[in-house]
Amino acid sequence: MTKIYVLNGPNLNMLGAREPEIYGTMNLSDIEAKLRQQAPEVELVFGQTNSEDELIGWLQAAFNDSADVILNPAAFTHYSYALRDACAMLKGRSRLIEVHISNPHTREAFRHNSVISGVATGVIAGFGVDSYLLALQQLTRN
Ligand code: DQA
Repeated sequence: MTKIYVLNGPNLNMLGAREPEIYGTMNLSDIEAKLRQQAPEVELVFGQTNSEDELIGWLQAAFNDSADVILNPAAFTHYSYALRDACAMLKGRSRLIEVHISNPHTREAFRHNSVISGVATGVIAGFGVDSYLLALQQLTRN
């Protein structure tokens, strides 16, 4: 069974309650359920953490499994070189799609730079929770 990691960074556990005018009203469990429904044939490893340490550990697990990754790095997007290095490890081994619910380029200046995009296979941003579904669609197309 193909394994895909769906990893979520800090404050995404608050989706649904957190700034709904930006992130919508769906929570992370709703997103997980939608992804599982879209690709029942895939073994989805779904996680959220507020810890950079834990997120890096999961990326290393994806490396060891040679598994593709859908990653919403949340605020780590904009400054975590440690997370970037973990993502860079996957290059040439598995695919990594960076996703964002909002379009960071339309928001505050500090969100315009991603330290992750340069080592991602692709980036999907601005489509609400559909950003995740589009990423999964891309990773599962033949
Ligand atoms: C986000 C955008 C980031 O700038 C922000 O820090 C988040 C969520 C998004 O999904 O739109 O936490 O990654």
